[in-house]
Amino acid sequence: MKILVVGTGAREHALVRALSLDPAVTELHAAPGNPGIGLLARLHAVDQLDGAAVAELAGRVGADLVVVGPEAPLVAGVADAVRAAGIAAFGPSAAAAQLEGSKAFAKEVMAAAGVPTAEPRVATTVDAAAAGLDTFGPPYVVKDDGLAAGKGVVVTNDRAEALAHAADCLAKPGGTVVIEEYLDGPEISLFVLSDGVDAVPLVPAQDFKRVRDGDEGPNTGGMGAYSPLPWAPHNLVEDVMNRVARPTIAEMARRGTPFAGVLYVGLAMTSKGVRVVEFNARFGDPETQVVLPRMATPLAGVLYAAATGTLGALPPLEWLDAAAVTIVVASGGYPGTVRSGDPITGIEDAEAVPGVHVLHAGTALRQNSAADDDDAIDGAHLVAAGGRVLSVVGVGSNLAAARAAAYAGVEQIELPYSHHRNDIAASAADGPLV
Ligand code: AMP
Ligand code: GLY
Repeated sequence: MKILVVGTGAREHALVRALSLDPAVTELHAAPGNPGIGLLARLHAVDQLDGAAVAELAGRVGADLVVVGPEAPLVAGVADAVRAAGIAAFGPSAAAAQLEGSKAFAKEVMAAAGVPTAEPRVATTVDAAAAGLDTFGPPYVVKDDGLAAGKGVVVTNDRAEALAHAADCLAKPGGTVVIEEYLDGPEISLFVLSDGVDAVPLVPAQDFKRVRDGDEGPNTGGMGAYSPLPWAPHNLVEDVMNRVARPTIAEMARRGTPFAGVLYVGLAMTSKGVRVVEFNARFGDPETQVVLPRMATPLAGVLYAAATGTLGALPPLEWLDAAAVTIVVASGGYPGTVRSGDPITGIEDAEAVPGVHVLHAGTALRQNSAADDDDAIDGAHLVAAGGRVLSVVGVGSNLAAARAAAYAGVEQIELPYSHHRNDIAASAADGPLV
């Protein structure tokens, strides 16, 4: 099978890596990819938001399957363009990707499907937003309705800050905000594959969204993740499938916009039971980096089945009896204004640690004629070129071993001014592996 992966992040590097380990995969392409992905796949300088260009590339390289990683191309209709060209695409249509593209739409679908979530107030004026804040009281949760790359949500006890965020979102053209009830309790992420009718869960993971240890500081795209979750109830996945995923997929089909791809269910485990915090229409980053290495079933056939309406015929997925932890190495300044161009070294040394592999996100190659050392790729040096730069993944027989490996890998990486969290999977690693 020839596969084209669309995207540039560590999530796409994780997908490409898993696909490269699948004997059924004969050729891998990426658009536009990154330098790490370039070690495993042929890179193509194509705008990932341009559906016609992606479909043309897929046809030109003879792709049997196109896997669309990020939300922006999905919302822009890239999967639709590929399917219209007669090529199988893993990823929902633009209409179905509105489950992520509009938080107000997601709330409407959840209400129709009876899915437990925080009670919302959708506001299009500052007065309505203020009334919403006072309905629920602190802590206040204010969400930009549209895509905001992980920066659209403010959770605060400060009413003025909450209202200021609402006003900022409302100032955009067509600005809409969702104000909602605060959900307490640990968060988990569950990825559910669907072909529009059937649904198959992967294993749950936990993401660490705040930038600093102890869940301090602003929200980020995600600073680390681990799987499995030794503390989660044994019936968690079945409960989420029955109360959240299957009703949502049935409701999307009933509306004539079937959801095929991966439904990312972000949940809070509250004292009143599970509640949906968010839906995304794609794999999570960095959770994908810890879910895929645990999967024993080769990935390509699974994604192909979801893309072609044949998930029901797939044998049950098999999982390794292993744990995985990933640590995100971020540029100085992230999640604010980030530095770029600083040199990255030590990836080979990190990967020499047993159980460790390193995935690229915000990296670039800078041509350098003197680049003949171990860290050079084709005579060029690797530099930071984004907020989240690398995902260092450790795999082991239990969380403690996976965590130790991941941090031993991180220690080998040198990137001036970079930072990472030190407490990823720390408390979970003390518990039993389930
Ligand atoms: P979202 O983009 O909707 O996932 O929100 C980003 C993050 O904000 C979530 O992962 C939570 O940590 C936090 N958050 C979102 N909604 C709520 C809520 N209703 N109660 C508490 N925290 C929330
Ligand atoms: N890890 C959060 C996300 O992918 O949205």
